[in-house]
Order: sequence, then C-alpha cells, then structure tokens
Amino acid sequence: MLKWFLRALIALVLLVILAAAVVYAMSQRRLTQRVTVPQEALSVHLAGGDVRRGAHFATAIAECMNCHGSNAGGRLFVNDGALGTYYAPNLTRGPGGAAATFTDADWERALRFGAAPDGRPLLIMPSRDFAELSERDFADIVAYIRSLPPVTNTTPPPHVGPVGRFLFAIGQLRVGAEEIHRDAPVPSTVQASVSVAYGRYLARIGGCMDCHGAHLSGGHLEGAPSDPPAQNLTRGGDLGHWSFEQFTRTLRTGRRPDGSSLASFMPWPQVGQMNDDELRAIFLFLKSVPPRQSGTG
Ligand code: HEC
Ligand code: HEC
Repeated sequence: MLKWFLRALIALVLLVILAAAVVYAMSQRRLTQRVTVPQEALSVHLAGGDVRRGAHFATAIAECMNCHGSNAGGRLFVNDGALGTYYAPNLTRGPGGAAATFTDADWERALRFGAAPDGRPLLIMPSRDFAELSERDFADIVAYIRSLPPVTNTTPPPHVGPVGRFLFAIGQLRVGAEEIHRDAPVPSTVQASVSVAYGRYLARIGGCMDCHGAHLSGGHLEGAPSDPPAQNLTRGGDLGHWSFEQFTRTLRTGRRPDGSSLASFMPWPQVGQMNDDELRAIFLFLKSVPPRQSGTG
C-alpha cells in the first residue's frame, strides 16, 4: 500500500515538474525572441511635430502617462511576486530616459513594432495599438515627450514571475510584437471628425479593444487575475441604454448613471479628458458595433 502511494506521489511530482518545464520553455521562447525590423520599414521623420496636439494625444487618447508616470519619468507598473516586476521606463530626455538616446527609428521600433532598440520584445507596452497611429499623430506625441522636463531615472528590465510565465505561455499576457502585422501602409493623417471611422481609430489607439475585447463584449481579457472584468460596451450591455450625456458623465466623473463607481483599472481619468467631439465619435462607434452577449469576444 505504502509502495503504491509512493509511486503515485513520485508520478505526481514528475508531472508537476514536467508541466513547469513546458510552461518555462513556452514562455522563454516568447520572452527571449529578437524582433528584427527591416531598415526599409523604418521610415518615419519625427521633426516638426506639434507639441500641444501631442500633449492631448499622449495624455487623453494614448494614455502614455497612465503607465509611464504623470511626468513620464517612469514608474513601477506591476510588483507582484507571482506575476513579476514590470517598470514602465522613463521616456524623458533626462539620464536613463528614452528621449535622451532614442533616434527616430528607435521610437518607431518601440511604438510601431513593440521592440526595444536592441530588439528585445517590449512587454505590456500596447504597441499593437500604436502601430496604427497616423504619421502625424505619432510625430506629435514624440514631439511632446521630447519637450517634457528631463527626469533622472533608470528602470531595470522586466522580471517575469512564475504566474507571469504561465500567463505569457498561454497568451493571457501578450507579447505585442507578435501581433503586429503591417499589411497596409500607415496613413499620413487621420482626419478628426464626429464619425464612426474616427471613433474606431480613437478606440483602437485608446486600447478599448484590449480590455473590452476585439468585439467589445467585455470579460476578463487583460491584466492580473485580481483586476476587475471589463464590461460589455456593445448594445448588448448596459451601455446600450445610456445616453451620450450619461456616457460622457461616467467617463469624466468615474460614476455610472446608477451611482456606482468605476475601478481605476479602467483608465477613465485619462479617457475622460477626451473632448466632446472625440467622445461623441467613440460613442457613435460603440453604437455601430453589432450587439453581443457579454463575454463572447
Ligand atoms: C499599459 C501601459 C502602457 C502604456 C499605455 C504605454 N506604455 Fe510604453 N511601456 C510600458 C511598459 C511596461 C514598458 C516596458 C516594457 C519592457 O521593458 O519590456 C514600456 C516601454 C516603452 C518604451 C521603450 C522604452 C525603453 O527604454 O526601451 C517606449 C519608448 C514607450 N514605452 C513609449 C510609450 C508611449 C509614447 C506611450 C503612449 C503613446 C506608451 N509608451 C504607452 C507600458 C505602457
Ligand atoms: C486597462 C483596461 C481598460 C481599458 C484600456 C479600457 N477599459 Fe473601459 N473598463 C475596464 C474595466 C475593468 C471596467 C469595469 C470597471 C468596474 O467594474 O469598476 C471598464 C468599464 C468601462 C465603462 C463602464 C461600462 C458599464 O457598463 O458600466 C465604460 C463606458 C468604458 N469602460 C469605456 C471604455 C472606453 C471607451 C475605452 C477606450 C477609450 C476603455 N473603456 C478602455 C477596463 C478598460
């Protein structure tokens, strides 16, 4: 009996070790790949961007400072023994900051291809969304970041914990560079207007589809297991009954029409800084997507 028990125990331990090895190997392959961007794909000229326009785009629409810190000087973004330690680095031209050393090609590699200057894939950084920025919006954002007061701060590279490895292995945490497929050239400008098309562009850059799902039906799509699930934003969810005024008030105050408050994992303090026309474009876009049951993609 004891012998049988021991055998079963050894088999179980071996199985656990094997599973851990598979997770390690799968995540290691993703985390240590090198992203090579052909030289001819790096074509951007960032001189002449509009700093004021870039400030609005970086803050309210692309939400760069939500992760990189209110002064863009970098901050500890996730610090969790199981998930790992991830810093969003210093972007300013101070010592340790991206703008101190980045060439135009380095900015393009990071924002459009999800890679650090040495080809390491950037984790968590939502480059798959920024890949679609128009040339003009991209140049304006970088002009703004280059204009910021320099901050001295050097952050270490990410350390991926065991649960983080598992989430990278199964694709719950994503390596942005793997998802960027450039099949059409980026537009030089995207005209701002109160339209479904512009709303879709803003939603994409603003990461709405990352957290609320490709078809916006919500669910637990992004982030740590402890973060709240994102709501259904199609007409199949609560939002289907909201007026534009209720939508705007919710995003500007963090309070829903029923009085409940929105978790700050939902970046409403940034999204709420979009102007009325931008929010109206997003609202039109959300009303235009096919209604879906919650949590179905
Ligand atoms: C959801 C959080 C998040 C948002 C939003 C975000 N970033 Fe990042 N970004 C990160 C993290 C985390 C890293 C570090 C990734 C790594 O080292 O693997 C990073 C890395 C970078 C890097 C590479 C820096 C270096 O030194 O290698 C640049 C450049 C950058 N981000 C610029 C931006 C800009 C510009 C925006 C807005 C258009 C932005 N980021 C929005 C989280 C974010
Ligand atoms: C980092 C993930 C994340 C991003 C990016 C994000 N959301 Fe959310 N959103 C959430 C989560 C999580 C909730 C639920 C918060 C709660 O329950 O307190 C939420 C809730 C909402 C709600 C309230 C819906 C309801 O029925 O109560 C609205 C409206 C909303 N988001 C709109 C947007 C829009 C528009 C964008 C893009 C501009 C966006 N969100 C981007 C995670 C996100």
